[in-house]
Amino acid sequence: MNLLAGKRILLGVTGGIAAYKSAELIRRLQDQGADVHVVMTAAATEFITPLTLQGLSGHPVHLDLLDTETESVMGHIELARWADLILIAPASANFIARLSQGHGSDLLSTICLAAQCQIAVAPAMNQGMWANAATQENVRSLMTQGTAIFGPDEGLQACGEIGEGRLLDVAGIVDLTIATFPNGKLRGCKVVITAGPTREAIDPVRYISNHSSGKQGYALAEAAIEAGAEVILISGPTNLAPPNRANVIPVTSAQEMYEASMQEATGADIFIGVAAVADFRPTEVSRQKIKKDKSGSRVTITLEENPDIIASVAALGDGPFTVGFAAETSHVIDYARAKLAKKNLDMVIANNVSNQEIGFNSDENETTMIWGNQEQTLPIASKRNIATKIVGTIAEALPESHAHD
Ligand code: PMT
Repeated sequence: MNLLAGKRILLGVTGGIAAYKSAELIRRLQDQGADVHVVMTAAATEFITPLTLQGLSGHPVHLDLLDTETESVMGHIELARWADLILIAPASANFIARLSQGHGSDLLSTICLAAQCQIAVAPAMNQGMWANAATQENVRSLMTQGTAIFGPDEGLQACGEIGEGRLLDVAGIVDLTIATFPNGKLRGCKVVITAGPTREAIDPVRYISNHSSGKQGYALAEAAIEAGAEVILISGPTNLAPPNRANVIPVTSAQEMYEASMQEATGADIFIGVAAVADFRPTEVSRQKIKKDKSGSRVTITLEENPDIIASVAALGDGPFTVGFAAETSHVIDYARAKLAKKNLDMVIANNVSNQEIGFNSDENETTMIWGNQEQTLPIASKRNIATKIVGTIAEALPESHAHD
């Protein structure tokens, strides 16, 4: 079976006796249809030669961050963008520490810093090193950041000690790798996602907007792509790199987002409104910069309502399965349920934004999915993790008429 067909896996090999197992791992990942590129740390090359892994992977092995020749062919940013999954196996205690701290001191750690895709780590080290409080803290931190941890196993170690810290067996790593992909649950589906803020012009230099960064919407786009969907990402202004393989339609105002959404929603299977759309816009946009005539002067800006994008999509005859978000600071579930009913949505994601550490413009979120007579809370986790779970739930809830697999 080719359960990783078309998947691009960047295998990071770090220094440790278990590095020799990466040779077998490459083969088993390829058996499942994956295309594997290898990045080795300097320490890893002391345990297994790059030539061996190059021969097995069928691609040059990437070693140096500052190698001008390699950077000109496929540099660290290209590698980060290329990968659907970065799998670090074996991952040493030292590398786990650097990864958890966000170091960019060599090629592999820099790629991880730049990556938007899922990162998975298969630790391999002496049992004492694994049990060490610092290592455990680093692993916890990685999990909070959304990194998947594969293993470790326990048993007899190369150093002669017995305990937890052995690299998980290769078959186990391959199984967990397969499980990180939602396995084409949305294959053949067209998914339209709105993300980020909108900007409502007051005059040529000023606008009304909000604190949405686009992170949650972009994470959903990545998760839907991973699930095999064709994704149209209608994005307000953000500072984010476009997700690999998403068709991005950049917009600025709610009216532009509305027009792009209505065009793309026709024929779509799923519409997810993550954008924080401005409910109102200035009735008139001044053609010249509004001047401050004298100190203490007042300016009145009259606002008119913007179209409700998601309610319009939900009202389309034969329209897509429509999922809205509801960012609330109090009575989160009640208010979200009210939006579900009022906008005639198929699902609403209640987003608790009372805690400033999560929700708007942060890397983490806490949500409750509400659909039909079901409700499921996703506790605080990275937006990428939350996105994968939401996509999985949408795939399960999708009516036959919109499912293609
Ligand atoms: O972008 P991030 O920094 O990652 O933050 C993510 C988020 C907090 C913005 C996101 O998770 C979120 O909760 N988005 C919805 C924000 C919100 O509260 O929207 P709302 O209550 O104004 O609207 C409810 C729903 O209607 C949303 O799906 C919204 O996209 C949609 N809407 C709203 C107004 C409008 N005119 N048209 C719409 O489609």
